[in-house]
Formats: sequence, structure tokens, C-alpha cells
Amino acid sequence: MRSYFIAGNWKMHKTVAESVALAKELKDKLGSCKEKVLVAPAFTALAAVAEVLKGSSIMLGAQNMGPEEQGAHTGEVSVLMLKDLGVKAVILGHSERRHSYLESDELVNKKVLLALKHGLEPILCVGETLEEREGGKLEAVVGTQVKKGLAGVSAADLAKVTIAYEPVWAIGTGKTATPEDADAVHAFIRKEVAGLYGDAAAKALCIQYGGSVKADNAALLMGKPNIDGALVGGASLKAETFVPIASFR
Ligand code: PGA
Repeated sequence: MRSYFIAGNWKMHKTVAESVALAKELKDKLGSCKEKVLVAPAFTALAAVAEVLKGSSIMLGAQNMGPEEQGAHTGEVSVLMLKDLGVKAVILGHSERRHSYLESDELVNKKVLLALKHGLEPILCVGETLEEREGGKLEAVVGTQVKKGLAGVSAADLAKVTIAYEPVWAIGTGKTATPEDADAVHAFIRKEVAGLYGDAAAKALCIQYGGSVKADNAALLMGKPNIDGALVGGASLKAETFVPIASFR
């Protein structure tokens, strides 16, 4: 039976003490969870949350990282620093990074390659805006983000990559793509990946859905054949809303 990959993106929320409290609660309540579970606290809380998660199966993730290993890059956090703290995965190309901080596909790709070089699992986020969807550009936009995001990734490294499909209009809005709509985009992404890496690699690829995932839609979304997990924002900020998602079956 496949296991699903459920990730909580805490975004720019929580002090260190609040992050530790949530991580402790999740460690207690998700001890026997059969899914792959990850939490991505803010950079400032990574070290403390890493300490809490020791001995637990919950993976530690980061929400972003700089595109260089080290150097004169004021304000950036490097892959080496993340690894040093025990981070195992990193969310890259989140739509908030792409749209608010103007991260390009090229920059996101550079980060994907750097994460893989150092053994971190990238979660590559892709997704269209409402304007792009309504303008019939969904496949062009998402297809480009997938192709450019994966440029130079070897077939062996693809196995460490997760793609998160997050329609921008569904993030934090309470609007969710219908399970059917989401599944259709996931199938499209899988087809694009099959074109690049072959059918077997595409079939094995984990594609998460993100955008207003809640306890009451998680099972319907992940019940679809092409939806292999969830990237959860708002509902990941409390154990009472995140635990039911991670334990949806
Ligand atoms: P949301 O965020 O669950 O609050 O919509 C998802 C995300 O941005 O990863």
C-alpha cells in the first residue's frame, strides 16, 4: 500500500516556544501515523523543533533556502546551515516566493539542484493564478514550472523530488480545487514528467496537492489516483486541525 506525504508549512507564524509546543503535540499524536509527515517551521525555530523531533518519524523541513552554498548573501540561509540543523527536506518555489519575492523558474531550479547535491529532498511547488487558469494558460504555466524546475535533475535524483501542485487561487482562501480538477492537473504533471523521465519514474513521483486542505476535504483529495499527499498551510498550525489530515485514513 502506498504511503502519502503530508507536509505542514507553518509559514511566517510562531515563536520558538510556540513551535516547540506544536512539535511536541504532533510528536505525541502522530507517533503511529502511517504516512510520511513533515513539518516546516520558520528558520528561527528549526533548531529547537529539531531537538523535539529527535527519535520521532516526523521529518524536519525548511520553507526556503538560498541558491548558493555560502558567501556574501545578506539575509539568506544556506543548504549547509539547514543540513547542520537536521533539516531533511525543503519547500522551494512556493507561490508566495514566486509572486511576492519574484523568484523565477531559473532561481527555483538552482535551489532544487543545490538541495539535491546536498541530499535534501526538494518539494518543488507549482501552480497557476486564477487569471492564468481563466485565460486557458494552466497547462502552459504549470508545464513550464515543472520542466524548468526540474532542469538538470538526474533520473536518480528525481526519486527524491516531490512536486506540490498548489493553485495560487486556492492558497489561504478557503477555495479548494475540486478533487477531480486537482487530479486532472496532477495527471497532467505526471504526463509531463513521463515525457522527461519515462513512465516508471512518473508513476513513482509523489505529487502533493496544496491549497486550503482541511480535515474535511483531505480524504476526498487524496482518494484520487494522482494525489499522493498534501502540503498544508493554515490547517497545519494547530494539532487539532493537522492531526486529522495526517490521519485521514
Ligand atoms: P493553505 O496553504 O493550506 O493555507 O491554503 C497551503 C500552502 O501555501 O502551502
